[in-house]
Amino acid sequence: MILMAPSLLSADFAKLGADCDRMQAAGADIWHFDVMDGMFVPNISFGIPVLKSLNQYTDLPIDAHLMIEAPHRYIKQFAEAGADYITIHVEAEENPAETLKEIRKYGVIPSISVKPGTPAEAIFPYLELCGMVLVMSVEPGFGGQSFMPVALPKIEALRKESERLGLDMRIQVDGGIDAVTGKQVIEAGADVLVAGSALFKSENPKEFIDYMKNLG
Ligand code: DX5
Ligand code: ZN
Repeated sequence: MILMAPSLLSADFAKLGADCDRMQAAGADIWHFDVMDGMFVPNISFGIPVLKSLNQYTDLPIDAHLMIEAPHRYIKQFAEAGADYITIHVEAEENPAETLKEIRKYGVIPSISVKPGTPAEAIFPYLELCGMVLVMSVEPGFGGQSFMPVALPKIEALRKESERLGLDMRIQVDGGIDAVTGKQVIEAGADVLVAGSALFKSENPKEFIDYMKNLG
C-alpha cells in the first residue's frame, strides 16, 4: 500500500491548520515535517513548538525529517512533542545506531536517510534498527527542486536488501515527486511518497493522491 506524505514545507504557515484539513480530506496519510538548522542544510524552517501544535491539531502520524547536525541532541524533545517517526540523516551523525535506538526507546519509529550523493549501502548496517528509510531525490534544504534519477537504483537496492533481511521496511522518497516521478519511484520499490510543491500547487490534490495510491 502506498502512503502519501504531504511536505508541510509547502504549506501556508499562516493557515497551517486549514492546509492540513485540505490535505487530510484529499487522502494524506503522514505529515512530513521538515526541520532545518541552517548548518546541515543552507536553510532554516520550523521546529519543536510547531510540531507540538500540529500534534495537538491532527490525528495523522507525523514524521520529523531532521535535516540538522547531530540530531541525537534533540530526539527527546521531538519525541515528547509528538513525533510518530523521526528521520535522521546518516551524514549528520557520528553514531547513527545509538540515535536510532534512542528513537525506538521513546516509542517512536526510527528512520534513516541518505542524501543524493550518499550510496544506499551507507545505511545497510542500520536497516534492522529502522521501520522506515528515506531516499532523498533532491539535495535537502528546499522544496520545488527537480527529481534526481540517482534515487531510483538506491530505492531498488534498499528494497532488495530489506527483503533479503526479511524486514517489513517502508521506503520513503522525498524531493521532486509528481505524477511522472511518483510512478518511477513506486516501480523501483518505494511505498511512502513525500510530495511538497506538486501536491500543494495541484488544483485537485485528491486526484493527485488517488492517482499515486492506485499505482501501488
Ligand atoms: C527538501 C525537503 C522536502 C521538500 C519536498 O529538503 O526535505 O521534503 O519539502 O518538496 P518538493 O516535493 O517540492 O520537492
Ligand atoms: Zn523532507
